[in-house]
Amino acid sequence: MVEREPETIEVDPEEFDPEELERAARALRRGELVAFPTETVYGLGADATDEEAVRGIFRAKGRPAGHPLIVHVASARQAEQFAADWPEEARRLAAQFWPGPLTLVVEKVDAIPDVVTGGLSTVGLRSPAHPVARALLEEVGVPVAAPSANPHTRLSPTRARHVLEGLGVAVDVVVDGGPTEVGIESTVLSLVRSSPTILRPGMVGRAELEEVVGPVHVAEDVVESDRPRSSPGRAASHYAPRARLRVRSPQEISADWPDAEERTGLVAIGSAEVQPGGRRDRIFELPGRPDPFARELYDVLHRLDRLGCTEIWVEVPPEGPGWRAVRDRLRRAEGE
Ligand code: TXA
Ligand code: MG
Repeated sequence: MVEREPETIEVDPEEFDPEELERAARALRRGELVAFPTETVYGLGADATDEEAVRGIFRAKGRPAGHPLIVHVASARQAEQFAADWPEEARRLAAQFWPGPLTLVVEKVDAIPDVVTGGLSTVGLRSPAHPVARALLEEVGVPVAAPSANPHTRLSPTRARHVLEGLGVAVDVVVDGGPTEVGIESTVLSLVRSSPTILRPGMVGRAELEEVVGPVHVAEDVVESDRPRSSPGRAASHYAPRARLRVRSPQEISADWPDAEERTGLVAIGSAEVQPGGRRDRIFELPGRPDPFARELYDVLHRLDRLGCTEIWVEVPPEGPGWRAVRDRLRRAEGE
């Protein structure tokens, strides 16, 4: 088989004609793999009702079967068609947070093949807010299974170039809609347990969810454990750059920052009292607020990887619920 470079379609998310997405929609209908922007990260999409196409996602990412994929839909109405049960909580949460960075896990219908859900009877459904994703889902008319468009266990892409660098010829079409807004993956909330349970924290936080559905549990932290996992994306050493990542206090950074010869990168939080010397090209300062920090984090880690850093230090983010998802991703990237 001849490996072709993916076809890239550049789309201005502020101003585009949905017809610009027609080739991407056709590719999805043909069973091909299409990377596209969502407001969180870029997804690697395939027709969720086409078993063969979905197998292609697992091959392209090197993702073990058994890791369930999120199915993207154009609307809550379409989500309901693929849920065997659409509970009252789902109705209320979708009305409040969709389109947006929240995935709802519910019982699936048979039209979603088992390969999508890794054999589970449940499916994670999400209606993304990115205008390009929305237009593509409208255009293609089928639900689109899409994990983050990165090789298994690596950093999620927040730019089209991250997709091309990570997956290259394994993708048929890349829709380039510019940088993503949210920057880290969606909140995954299970609605099949006795009470709603966060399986993966994201920028839709627990308190916001509780305003809509009452008490929300957070799945017990299973990062360090090898017990069977309810959400395999929670495994340690996910979302990792190639470089070894270390979360450090400002004091540790100031005291131990290595000299300029070492290939260490630094992600500092703008407000802090960290004053490292050495090469500025390996030092990035991110804002001390969770939203802009999350938006830029993966791009900065991708850049430090590209600069050949062997180790990346990240200044420990503040405590507080707004930082929960960021702290979760850093802990996973730290792995062990
Ligand atoms: O923001 C996002 O969620 C991005 C964009 C592309 O939508 N997608 C994404 O997909 O991060 P992925 O495959 O990298 O992560 C999916 C997460 C995993 O942690 C997986 O275990 C969980 O969602 N998940 C999906 N379906 C599930 C199910 N039926 N039960 C439990 N967890 C599920
Ligand atoms: Mg992922």
